[in-house]
Amino acid sequence: MTFQTIEVRPLAGALGAEVGNIDLSAPLSNQMRDEIHQAFLDNLVIVFRDQKLTPEKQVEIAGLFGKPAIYPFLQGLDGAPEVHELLKTAEDEVNFGGNWHSDTAYRECPDMGTLLYAHEVPDVGGDTLFTNMYLAYDALSDGMKEMLKGLTAIYSSEKGYDGKRAEKMKSLDGLKDAVQAEIETFESEHPVVRTHPETGQKALYVSKSHTLRFKDMTVEESTPLIDYLSTFAVLPEFTCRVDWQPQTLVIWDNRCTKHLAVDDYAGQRRRMHRVTVEGVQPL
Ligand code: SIN
Repeated sequence: MTFQTIEVRPLAGALGAEVGNIDLSAPLSNQMRDEIHQAFLDNLVIVFRDQKLTPEKQVEIAGLFGKPAIYPFLQGLDGAPEVHELLKTAEDEVNFGGNWHSDTAYRECPDMGTLLYAHEVPDVGGDTLFTNMYLAYDALSDGMKEMLKGLTAIYSSEKGYDGKRAEKMKSLDGLKDAVQAEIETFESEHPVVRTHPETGQKALYVSKSHTLRFKDMTVEESTPLIDYLSTFAVLPEFTCRVDWQPQTLVIWDNRCTKHLAVDDYAGQRRRMHRVTVEGVQPL
């Protein structure tokens, strides 16, 4: 598509684009909104530099994509409950989101998109990697596609936490004050290959972080294929890498991407504000 109001520069062959010539804190015309939405569908991950955004403004921008969601495990900011602060302090030894995943895949209606805004970033490191799950699906053999057709999996928020999600989240200095007192476990069934509700394209929807097992199969039976698909989906040719500066906003589509926050900045702080957008049941 040709854009009239914004500039769109691809970041990599697989996915991702920087969007320029726009001030998101100013009123946006209908054409600008449509073009941002189109850039999001075309590129899956869109990056805006040098944006001055208050938490309220970030929620308003999220509203361009749908209804801002509430993340169940962390309290939001006072006065802006949809905004969650993701802080890694210099003392924290692990980060939030350091494994490949698609946000809240364990919910019946997982979040369709995420807006992450950088306040403080390390001098070097702390990038986010993204992978294109349309490309990952397309690159599978016909035999594998046939096998995955109609396959359903169980997605769990407890995978990898051994029932200790609250304890593990509270062990992070930067998050401990925001961890919700009551931590629920979410489990849902979704197709392993989902069809994007807006583009109609098929995307692989599997991750080691949240896909527990295939329906009517044991964890032991399911794990080898979940691990294979998860590793295949993040081959370098399906990915892009976003480096952060303060005042960078990144918006990604959870319906056809996965992401990973690179944990390579020990001893430095990184402080981000995250808002997610409610999605629909994957089909
Ligand atoms: C997330 O997993 O949502 C956070 C990603 C990041 O901090 O880069």
